[in-house]
Amino acid sequence: MKKQVLTGIKPTGRIHLGNYIGAIKPALKLAENDFYNTAYFVADYHGLTKIHDQAEMKELTYGVAAAWLALGLDPDRAIFYRQSDIPEIFELSWILACFAPKGLLNRAHAYKSIAEENHKMGREADAGVNMGVFTYPILMAADILLFQTELVPVGKDQIQHVEIARDLAEYFNNQYGETFVLPDYIIEEETAVLPGLDGRKMSKSYNNTIPLFEQPKKLQKLINKIKTDSSPPEEPKNPESSIIFSLYREFATPEQVEEMRKRYQRGIGWGQAKKELFEVMNSFIEEPRAQYETLMASPEKLDAILKEGAAKARKKAIPFMTEIKTKIGIFH
Ligand code: ADP
Ligand code: TRP
Repeated sequence: MKKQVLTGIKPTGRIHLGNYIGAIKPALKLAENDFYNTAYFVADYHGLTKIHDQAEMKELTYGVAAAWLALGLDPDRAIFYRQSDIPEIFELSWILACFAPKGLLNRAHAYKSIAEENHKMGREADAGVNMGVFTYPILMAADILLFQTELVPVGKDQIQHVEIARDLAEYFNNQYGETFVLPDYIIEEETAVLPGLDGRKMSKSYNNTIPLFEQPKKLQKLINKIKTDSSPPEEPKNPESSIIFSLYREFATPEQVEEMRKRYQRGIGWGQAKKELFEVMNSFIEEPRAQYETLMASPEKLDAILKEGAAKARKKAIPFMTEIKTKIGIFH
């Protein structure tokens, strides 16, 4: 039996290099593997916890969809859909909510960290928390459990959410008998966390990202902004502690990386290192960027692909929902 793999990306920002290296690239590798059935989706209703502007929601949702496709997702191999097109996810989300102890959600990181920050700032604990943020892990559990997912490739920050999905599956199974598969997460340990312009983890929350499909001029400008020290060009440099080198190694060939490592050790000017980083990055991005732009210019094509994916996903979801509803005693 093939294992079911599933993951989602929420449309809360433009896809950046960190998203590509840490999430999309490993997921695409799994999609090529014949031992797995893969389902990838745009988690637009998770995005709604943050994005409350119509035009922005549309643009960001298409942006995430176009990015997956431009980077090589084959919708004939992986089921590819928009979360909001699968009403069964939301139906299951309510059912799971009725099995979710409130205390479990009080302890979920995303909510807890806002509550703690509020406490520190002397605000009311729940200030700025909408119920979407609070129940976020339940919707994510529904995403996962509806498709009998065994493996969920995610970043470290999402481990707790997968564990919550597992807990909810167990509560349900204990009550009604084996129904849900218990999911596990996969963390790509070897995928280093990609640093951003300031050396911290590249993240839209830190405003230090390089958007993946940036125009060449803008890309060059962003690369020029990468923080460096004031050592002169001839001074030997440690490649391992350089943000520029960390980024370079993701896009250059192994031979180029080895050669560059030697040049750091011999001494290289930061200006030159940045110029060469731009060259490898830009030549990697050129083709997918053109694809991305073509797709963004034809949202009807994106809609058609996503709808087709949703139809395939619902073929699995609808009969499973009937089974679940029969078990809880409300099928009619
Ligand atoms: P952000 O941190 O910009 O808000 P998200 O939390 O939306 O990004 O992440 C979407 C996916 O991209 C997750 O699977 C996450 O682990 C991955 N990811 C985000 N930033 C990085 C990074 N700098 N390096 C590696 N993976 C990352
Ligand atoms: N919460 C995930 C993130 O912020 C996105 C997501 C939503 C997801 N539903 C999912 C990831 C289901 C894996 C499986 O990155």
